[in-house]
Amino acid sequence: SDKKLIIAIDGHSSCGKSTVAKDLAKKINYTYIDSGAMYRVVTLFAMRNALINDDKVDENKLSHLIDQVSISFQYNDEKQRHETYLNGELVEDEIRSLAVSNNVSLIAKIKFVREKMVAFQRELSKEGGVIMDGRDIGTVVFPNAELKIFMTADVEVRAIRRYKELKDKGEEISLDDIRENVKKRDFIDENRDESPLRKANDAIVLNNSKLSKEEQLDWIVERMNEVV
Ligand code: CDP
Ligand code: CDP
Repeated sequence: SDKKLIIAIDGHSSCGKSTVAKDLAKKINYTYIDSGAMYRVVTLFAMRNALINDDKVDENKLSHLIDQVSISFQYNDEKQRHETYLNGELVEDEIRSLAVSNNVSLIAKIKFVREKMVAFQRELSKEGGVIMDGRDIGTVVFPNAELKIFMTADVEVRAIRRYKELKDKGEEISLDDIRENVKKRDFIDENRDESPLRKANDAIVLNNSKLSKEEQLDWIVERMNEVV
């Protein structure tokens, strides 16, 4: 079928949402949109403006400055990766650092931040043919998405996956710090008032603790074939 669907992939941190979303987008020629990158950019902006201190965000100042934040994405053919920009500056690596990860859930629970990001996510998806990953895509951003996946994996598996990734990039980090970050973010994301991380009633659960990237892609392609 030629119908341009919306596919929502939500779930816990570092389980492989963006990996499977990108793989599927490539396979079926859809647009991949990384909603988490948006919250990471706002976090980096807040950190640069010294708006986060001792786990507290200066929400008043951020509300005045947030209109200065312009987020864009571009695919880098040479590096074969999706890249994120803040006001035209390439920030892809910086937003993935543990420093940003340690603050992002504090920013993502702020109502006016979410409203702005959700509006942008919908704007980018107007034409359909989109795979978006995040925390509230199937519950809030696109409650009518044709396919909703809720991904998770064992904490230890997720911590090790993220650890290897950052280690490969040359970041000096410990597995303990990564595990703490993963657990803490899941806790804040699941317990916040605004759009908490929840499985949508009509989402299908994928626990990929024991699946390879190829196996998880096959699994999601099968689910996709069931709805088209
Ligand atoms: O890649 P990872 O799963 O670790 O995180 P991410 O998808 O980059 O998201 C980073 C953080 O942004 C999450 O821990 C959430 O606090 C927030 N987020 C959110 O609140 N809503 C979304 N739709 C996406 C991310
Ligand atoms: O987007 P999310 O934070 O859920 O996870 P990700 O960034 O897609 O994946 C986190 C790490 O786990 C990446 O380094 C992936 O290559 C790796 N991964 C894996 O080793 N096996 C899988 N089945 C899925 C992801």
